[in-house]
Amino acid sequence: MTDLNLTSEEQALLEGAAGPGVQRAMEIVVALGRIYGAADLVPVEHVQISGVSYKNLGDAGVAFLHEWAGQGAKVRVPTTLNPAGMELARWQEMGFDAEFARPQLAAIDAFVRMGVVPTMSCTPYLFPNYAPRRGAHLAWAESSAVVWANSVVGAFTNREGGPSALAAAIVGRTARYGYHLPEQRRATHVIEIRCPVKSIADFGALSYVVGKAVGDGVPYFVDLASWLPPLPDDLTEGGAAGDRLKTLGAGLAAYGAVALYHIEGYTPEARDLGRKLLSSHAKRLVVESLDEGYAVMDANPETTEIDLVTIGCPHASLSELRRVAERLRGERLRARLWVTTARLTRERAEAEGLVRIIEEAGGEVVADTCAVVAPIRGLGVRRMATNAGKMACYAPMHSGVEMRYGTLDQCLEAAIRGSWPKALSDQ
Ligand code: F3S
Repeated sequence: MTDLNLTSEEQALLEGAAGPGVQRAMEIVVALGRIYGAADLVPVEHVQISGVSYKNLGDAGVAFLHEWAGQGAKVRVPTTLNPAGMELARWQEMGFDAEFARPQLAAIDAFVRMGVVPTMSCTPYLFPNYAPRRGAHLAWAESSAVVWANSVVGAFTNREGGPSALAAAIVGRTARYGYHLPEQRRATHVIEIRCPVKSIADFGALSYVVGKAVGDGVPYFVDLASWLPPLPDDLTEGGAAGDRLKTLGAGLAAYGAVALYHIEGYTPEARDLGRKLLSSHAKRLVVESLDEGYAVMDANPETTEIDLVTIGCPHASLSELRRVAERLRGERLRARLWVTTARLTRERAEAEGLVRIIEEAGGEVVADTCAVVAPIRGLGVRRMATNAGKMACYAPMHSGVEMRYGTLDQCLEAAIRGSWPKALSDQ
């Protein structure tokens, strides 16, 4: 076991100088540092906490958070929260019961007492105030956001656990190991693509094929840039590039355990270093077809009737909300539609009149939650449709629903008809 060097301030926090809540946080950060052989701790600029839903926390988790808050622990750096199990202000209207809502609200109350901002979204990178900068050290726990921060932005974060992220927020530091170290960011697999990758759904299917093959490795895509629009400087609206990358990263983390990928000539580190990023024993993977991804994700092809169509995993960007509203203008939906997003993004969409168009069609723009972390079976949902790879992976696993997977156009058509249509377009 390597020696972990602590500054005198860090040592004092470990010995309880700032009270038992901070001491407990420092014990967690130091224990992880020792396990992973870190040489020291690194200050972090932002923390994102996952595991917020009462569905995951249970009563023991809620009690643990209150105990920590009761010990006077407060976060030292900007810290935001992942989605909860329900929309905080509209849970009754949406059909959630009080047995679930009460402990869920109690959990969020404990986070807020500790100074955490209840953003309730898995896309902190879409918030102008929290979008990370290149080279920043972060302690993010949401796996899809971790991939974005490392790959699309060139920030440095490991995939933290819920308690370790909160501990990092309380001490403002995390252990310097893994993706905080430049030498750990080299690619383990070279990916060559020999098939079209056009729609968001295609990027989701690609995430299955590659995620399954590379596990927790670092893929280096040599020719994916040709299937992507240019990467803009400001990605807080999502945009055609951002929406594809959001899906790709979420799926790579869900089907594999990828926390970082590179796209040659496109993502920041690959633009600077190119093939110098390849480790000497990088393996080669040629993707000839996305069929295997579609076959697994469109898990119940015999299912035609749809109860709930869900768009926005990770949470929908403003550009996705624009596309949904454009298609639904003047329509009347037969199936329930959730476009799940951050409250802040919904406010931006409201200002553009998009929410009104979706609601007039009978759809819902749902903030604070998603169909994975919400107890959707309690809402009577048995058959779902989505265009998001991660949702297609987790919703059947967490809620036992039947799943149809396809393009955004297919999903919206399913919401309009109440049944799954044949392939419509490649968008
Ligand atoms: Fe976000 Fe829920 Fe998907 S937390 S990444 S919308 S599973």
